[in-house]
Amino acid sequence: MRIIRAKDYDAMSAAAARLIAAQILLKPDCVLGLATGSSPVGAYQNLIAWNKTGALDFSAVRSVNLDEYAGLTPDHDQSYAYFMRHNLFNHVNIDLKNTNVPSGISGDGECQRYDKLIADLGGIDLQLLGLGVNGHIGFNEPDDHFSLGTHKVTLTESTRQANKRFFPSLDEVPTHAYTMGVRDILQARRVVMVASGTSKAQAIKDAFFGPVTPQVPASILQYHPDFVLVADEEALSLI
Ligand code: F6R
Repeated sequence: MRIIRAKDYDAMSAAAARLIAAQILLKPDCVLGLATGSSPVGAYQNLIAWNKTGALDFSAVRSVNLDEYAGLTPDHDQSYAYFMRHNLFNHVNIDLKNTNVPSGISGDGECQRYDKLIADLGGIDLQLLGLGVNGHIGFNEPDDHFSLGTHKVTLTESTRQANKRFFPSLDEVPTHAYTMGVRDILQARRVVMVASGTSKAQAIKDAFFGPVTPQVPASILQYHPDFVLVADEEALSLI
């Protein structure tokens, strides 16, 4: 595990974007595993800026997103499919046909379809992750076991509370989601996590300086051979 210590959110975003850009330059048709949420938005803005100057070409890039709320259509403004179009895909020259987000409305066959899709793409070259305040990655919530492949989860109260800022009320935050499992994430050839702010400090301490346990899902990344944590000083304040 490698830690890149950044001064603040902007420096964290630039450092993470450099790692993603390097991946695209090394392998223009790479498979990027992408995340939503507040943490990666700044990295996406850097990538968009470099694409606009012509320094970075997304035309052959393929992507698979980590997760999607159950029950939300891709057009719902809080769906992760919508988030990705508005925060990245619509602003770079990626072919939308090469982008993939789990379907929140297709039902149970979706999990198998998504795992097969990742395998058919040849696996993930670089997986970008955020970190939940409860230590979740994707929507792999604290549990008594690790779930391996894509699966449907019941969101914890803490995750629904953390995400209610995006919805008109807590009642409208979905109760379930589809997410890649820890095997999908661990099989990525490189994993990059972005974390910013004091709200993530305890989760970073528990995940990377404590035991590996499904009660802190991100802790499994201690076993990944090429894991880079890009975090700002506030997020690293407890270590
Ligand atoms: C998003 C995802 C989640 C977030 C996490 C942190 O696709 O999988 O695990 O990365 O909840 O969210 P933010 O970045 O909003 O703090």
